[in-house]
Amino acid sequence: MSPKVKIAPSLLSADFSSLAKDIKRVERAGADMLHVDIMDGHFVPNITIGPVVVKYMRKATSLPLDVHLMIEDPEQYINAFVQAGSDMITVHIETASIKEIEAMHRNLKSKGIKFGVSLNPATPISKIKPALKFVDFVLVMSVNPGFGGQAFIKSALTKIKQLRAIFEKDIAVDGGINAATGKLAREAGANILAAGSYIFGAKNTKQAIESLR
Ligand code: DX5
Ligand code: ZN
Repeated sequence: MSPKVKIAPSLLSADFSSLAKDIKRVERAGADMLHVDIMDGHFVPNITIGPVVVKYMRKATSLPLDVHLMIEDPEQYINAFVQAGSDMITVHIETASIKEIEAMHRNLKSKGIKFGVSLNPATPISKIKPALKFVDFVLVMSVNPGFGGQAFIKSALTKIKQLRAIFEKDIAVDGGINAATGKLAREAGANILAAGSYIFGAKNTKQAIESLR
């Protein structure tokens, strides 16, 4: 019954001085969407990009932009990321109350943007249960967010299985995904795989993407 798996290359591992070129590379290699990591130096110990860069990513591709907000107070910034051209926006359950999640759901639904909630490796599934009715997908973190190239944390698989038993919509997994961990995540019930270093570090981008399906 599991739907077709979708591959979301994470641009965190792209070359930001030739972003359009790297976007075209994964687009040609069969990416289903582009995963865009937004980090604020508060919620995570790293800083990346803001809406101004997302706006130019939007011009460089027609693939859906899957914007992963690893930032404090996401509600304050969400409209800026919508205006920049996001198609999907994920906020962390650690950064928003259920009331705020409900408000963001209403806001994004009225604009036709898909809404997701993510949880860190240390956060249990019980914490996102009240949010499930407000989201289109869940993003299970399989590394502590902040950096690309980290090792997959296996306990994410148990979480994906627990979630699959109670949630019928899309389940994405993010962090340490390669052909082997991608297979485990798919078997556990995930149907969107975000992968940065594995795809951008591969000699053959198309082969890397295909090995994840
Ligand atoms: C981690 C980011 C991920 C990251 C994944 O904080 O949310 O999207 O880019 O990178 P890899 O696939 O290299 O673990
Ligand atoms: Zn991410």
